[in-house]
Amino acid sequence: MANIEWYDSFSVGINLIDEQHKELLGKINALNEAVDKHQGIDKILNTLTFLYQYTDVHFSTEEKYMKELDYPGKKIHMEQHIEFFEMIETMRKDFEEDGATRALGESISTYLGNWLITHIKSIDFKFGEFLRETGHAGINA
Ligand code: FEO
Repeated sequence: MANIEWYDSFSVGINLIDEQHKELLGKINALNEAVDKHQGIDKILNTLTFLYQYTDVHFSTEEKYMKELDYPGKKIHMEQHIEFFEMIETMRKDFEEDGATRALGESISTYLGNWLITHIKSIDFKFGEFLRETGHAGINA
């Protein structure tokens, strides 16, 4: 699978969140590359761990502000975050059970990438709009 590129249309209008999204897409691309280049199951599982850890950093940032600002959409948004973590865990098990097959790697990186972009362009967009409208466009980690 080709690497996922960042497009300006993915921007939620909040610099911190955009930068974290770029980093996350980079981690999904790293996973894709590890599978493509047959880097072995250990390397792939490591890449998946980095993705999981950075996802935690990013989701924690968004959730911190959702809670602090009592964002009305926080429940649904946080449920989606849990869904993404669960997907990564399922994928880890699939890799461990089936090995690092190219088909599995491609389906995983495509699925994760598509999920993330859909999430960014729908639910994160709404949160970005809320942050801007309430005067919090300049949030820091
Ligand atoms: Fe940017 Fe809600 O994840």
